[in-house]
Amino acid sequence: MAGFLKTEISSVVLLIFLFASFSEARDLIIGGKPNAWRIPTSESDSLNHWAQKSRFIIGDSLVWEYDGSKDSVLQVTKRDYVTCNTSSPIETYTGGNTKVKLERSGPYYFISGAEGHCQKGQKLIVVVISEKHRHFNGVSPAPSPAEIEGPAVAPAPTSGAGRLTGGFFMLALAALLVV
Ligand SMILES: *[C@@H]1O[C@H](CO)[C@@H](O)[C@H](O)[C@H]1NC(C)=O
Repeated sequence: MAGFLKTEISSVVLLIFLFASFSEARDLIIGGKPNAWRIPTSESDSLNHWAQKSRFIIGDSLVWEYDGSKDSVLQVTKRDYVTCNTSSPIETYTGGNTKVKLERSGPYYFISGAEGHCQKGQKLIVVVISEKHRHFNGVSPAPSPAEIEGPAVAPAPTSGAGRLTGGFFMLALAALLVV
């Protein structure tokens, strides 16, 4: 009886850990510190330098903190990112406290809405990795912006394989509980 209870409790604990790891959602402050949304002073100060060292997963949110009276965040196409064209953004975020949830894999392009800032390097590419990459290729870093800007590279397709694996473990655990 005691043995059975022990098995059951450890299964429940395991289940809780699994749920916790699947529902993990992080708020990532861009640049890793407040007020990083500004013209970079050097290449190593740039947000893309920070982004290349970071991993972005579906469900994460990016958080910008900046002076809303002087700046804004524009989500743009790759073309508008490269040319710093602020005239027709996909999304415009204002107000000084911007949060963008990353809901798909692949690249996201952001530029400053402040006049001339994008040209001076206030821009950011975030590459969100798919669940598949997360499970089977977890240690590989996100592709660098240079790789993405190459002509032949398409964003990695989203895949449910990771979720399926997770679902299988859930089933196995549920079976354990019943036994
Ligand atoms: C910026 O984008 C708009 C809309 O796509 C386009 O009409 C305009 O010519 C572009 N400006 C430059 C400088 O490329």
